[in-house]
Amino acid sequence: MAARCVTRTLAIVLLAACPLAATRAQDAAALTDPVALAARQVERGEQWFRAACLECHAIGAVSNPDFRLKWGGRSAHDLFDLISRTMPDGNPGALSRGAYLAITAYLMKLNGMPVAATPLPADSTALGGLRLTFPSTPR
Ligand code: HEC
Repeated sequence: MAARCVTRTLAIVLLAACPLAATRAQDAAALTDPVALAARQVERGEQWFRAACLECHAIGAVSNPDFRLKWGGRSAHDLFDLISRTMPDGNPGALSRGAYLAITAYLMKLNGMPVAATPLPADSTALGGLRLTFPSTPR
């Protein structure tokens, strides 16, 4: 009786553990795949934007021709720098560097840039070397 009980418990534990193991394997793959990491950075940026920015900026307020005209041709660091120093208005610098970086990636995607092959680099110089090139940006 006790042995059966243990077997059953084990089966339940194994059943519960299997989907978890599969998810971990996917996570592990995502952690090493730069494209997946870049996509995930954009997703996190969207989550952060909804949590910290959407109350004042509708999506359309940060993805429109005026926005693209203003930011197109400037660097990813310029945009990152502005939002991390001045936003959220009233509580600037409240988010982590990673969150601001993710939001920058999200804003780039929102304005028509394809998801990059690698996540945006945290390094300011590298970030400064990335040009914001929207579909409407003059070349
Ligand atoms: C409490 C309101 C408020 C919150 C929250 C807020 N902003 Fe702002 N934001 C403003 C105001 C006010 C301005 C300056 C006026 C403008 O350009 O709309 C501004 C300007 C901006 C600009 C420059 C707009 C442009 O056209 O270049 C960006 C980009 C921006 N905010 C991004 C963000 C991001 C990203 C967040 C979240 C981390 C955020 N804001 C949170 C109020 C807010």
